[in-house]
Amino acid sequence: MPGVKSLFVPGPTNVPESVRRAMDVPMEDHRAPDLPNFTLPLFADLKKVFKTECGKVFLFPASGTGGWEAALTNTLRLGDKVLASRFGQFSHLWIDMCTRLGLEVELVDCEWGTGVPTEKFREILAADKNHEIKAVLATQNETATGVQSDIAATRRAMDAANHPAMLYVDGVSSIGSVDFRMDEWGVDIAVSGSQKGFMLPAGLCIMAASERAMELSGLDTMHRCYFDFKDMVVTNATGYFPYTPPMTLLRGLRVAVDRLLDEGLDNVFARHNFLAEGVRRAVAAWGLDLCAKGPEWYSDTVTAIMVPEGNDANEVIKHAYNRYGLSLGAGLSVVAGKVFRIGHLGDLNELMLMSALSGAEMAMRDVGIDVVPGSGVAAAQEFYRQNSPKLAMAAE
Ligand SMILES: Cc1ncc(COP(=O)(O)O)c(C=O)c1O
Repeated sequence: MPGVKSLFVPGPTNVPESVRRAMDVPMEDHRAPDLPNFTLPLFADLKKVFKTECGKVFLFPASGTGGWEAALTNTLRLGDKVLASRFGQFSHLWIDMCTRLGLEVELVDCEWGTGVPTEKFREILAADKNHEIKAVLATQNETATGVQSDIAATRRAMDAANHPAMLYVDGVSSIGSVDFRMDEWGVDIAVSGSQKGFMLPAGLCIMAASERAMELSGLDTMHRCYFDFKDMVVTNATGYFPYTPPMTLLRGLRVAVDRLLDEGLDNVFARHNFLAEGVRRAVAAWGLDLCAKGPEWYSDTVTAIMVPEGNDANEVIKHAYNRYGLSLGAGLSVVAGKVFRIGHLGDLNELMLMSALSGAEMAMRDVGIDVVPGSGVAAAQEFYRQNSPKLAMAAE
């Protein structure tokens, strides 16, 4: 197919040209004497993205899943209890990992399309008088359903229950795209990955741990080796790594972080909110429902769109790819065949997103979903014409 393919899965996202070029370099010596001049400022700038002063940033050659494992094994003991809620495939997989690692999970099953049940968490934590729950797990953005949860409210619930558990946040599809404040929200471990808001190929787990999490790490906690925080801390302090780091990804990360900080994090968040709102307008004009059950759950990085009863969302996805070279995200597990997803995070603007809306609209009509031609596209166009990112934020 001539021209470019359109990548609108919610990660991996488009890698900007400047990031791609930064990675297209000859291999280099990862023990070179001047490497710390590159790595130490990179760690310092990543702390700005996580909004942490005292936290420690880790870069593991892994994906987000590795970050979950590092978080759990460094800070919890075998058999410890964690509080978690399940409302989509990724919150499910994190819980599954806890169980397989030998943790006990106090599970709150929620309707898919909703998010972290903060009031229920408060009740459970208040009832846990012996403080058996050691950590609360929260998925900030459930990529499978397009649901964003309120992490500040999760912290407030923990404080209201006066509970000392740690707070671990999965920010794989949110950090670097939507507001995240590690210190202010009292987050003990935050996990992200390179292939979403950080606009890189997959391969880096980008995570941060609070001072409290660092104090607990290694105190009789679960077995681990590759993911040991302590090994990283010792070598990172000198600007090096305990093993061979993926230098090309780190070179790309440098440019990606510069892009985020140059645009300004608040502007990045406003842009994501603005782009997402245009997509939501398009879905409303098509007369379709979002998987997210209400505005309080709307994600600014991915929209999961329900196809009408009797239609198969996988047909839309397959056709969009084969006929128009457009990659849409599939529905996973419980919502397989019921939703298709449009990822709108990373290096993105209105016109790029219009191609996804246009392609989705054509593909739906081609497979027999009766949306009015041009309806979603027109709604998004008018929203983008008449608003600007800052206005969209102010309107919230
Ligand atoms: C919210 C969320 N958590 C965790 C993961 C798993 O991350 P990875 O695929 O980088 O291991 C993903 C992947 O899409 C995700 O969206």
